[in-house]
Amino acid sequence: MSIMYSAVQPSGNLTIGNYIGAVRNWVRLQSEYDCFYAIADMHAITVRQDPAELRRRTLELAALYIACGVDPEKCALYVQSHVSAHAELCWILNTLTYVGEASRMTQFKDKSRNHADNVNMGLMDYPVLMAADILLYQADHVPVGADQKQHVELARDLAERFNSRYGETFKVPQPLIVQGEARICSLQDPSKKMSKSDENPNASVFLSDDRDTIIRKFKRAVTDSDNRIAADAEKPGITNLLNIYCAFKGCTMSEAEGSFAGMGYGDFKLAVGETVADVLAPIQAEKQRLLQEKDVLASVLNAGAERAFKAARKTLSKVYRKVGFWRE
Ligand code: TRP
Repeated sequence: MSIMYSAVQPSGNLTIGNYIGAVRNWVRLQSEYDCFYAIADMHAITVRQDPAELRRRTLELAALYIACGVDPEKCALYVQSHVSAHAELCWILNTLTYVGEASRMTQFKDKSRNHADNVNMGLMDYPVLMAADILLYQADHVPVGADQKQHVELARDLAERFNSRYGETFKVPQPLIVQGEARICSLQDPSKKMSKSDENPNASVFLSDDRDTIIRKFKRAVTDSDNRIAADAEKPGITNLLNIYCAFKGCTMSEAEGSFAGMGYGDFKLAVGETVADVLAPIQAEKQRLLQEKDVLASVLNAGAERAFKAARKTLSKVYRKVGFWRE
């Protein structure tokens, strides 16, 4: 089976856009690939985090992923900092990464602008740590959003560079840009992607929102003055709502358009909100249940880390040997 690697940072609340674009893919891919899924707490601290909050979010995210259907029996679900090999391989890869190439990464430049008071070495090293994550597991595929594609390309470059300097060691990973899923946009400005950090609280629907909040946000969604419910480039608000509906209902666009034909915008928005709330309710309940059983959750994550460590250790000892670290 091919190997898949992905990770998510425990920062901010996940939105329904993350659910459609990332979480559901993890669930789908786990039966087709040998998957390693990490909670990237080491990446998270490249911007300031409140320690107690980081701890809470790490556990919450693990519970959420399991509640969404990530099956710890099928994949290795673990916390990045539990496997020290990530930091160790990152150090080796640092010696192969040029300062110029790291400082040209798009996300580093953006984050340096947004966190101008805290442009730390970790922020610049972020993509190298990500390369270490991926290369440790000899991953064939890395499912990522478009914003992370450049980082996977760096991982490929570093794998090739290492292999040509020290001999064949790493598999060169491929980004897997998952097709067929619609982009979920802001409910307040459908020209931009729904974001977990939007300052307008009505723009994003969070996986932790309760039913009333979800429905209220959909009722306030920006539409247009026409009264036709159809996917159309001229109608980005309605199209976005239809996309969300299809993704949560599991239906096609023409089925969705058919079932809303002739309906007013108010009823349509209510129907979309209810559909989303119906899907999220059992997930939220399961997440709460898991969080109440902390011991069980902890042992699931420990088992995941152990499984990850076994695979990572193999690669790391090979790397240490190849670079010339002496060992008896
Ligand atoms: N940087 C990724 C993000 O924020 C998270 C991540 C860390 C990751 N390590 C990874 C994703 C390795 C894929 C592979 O989305």
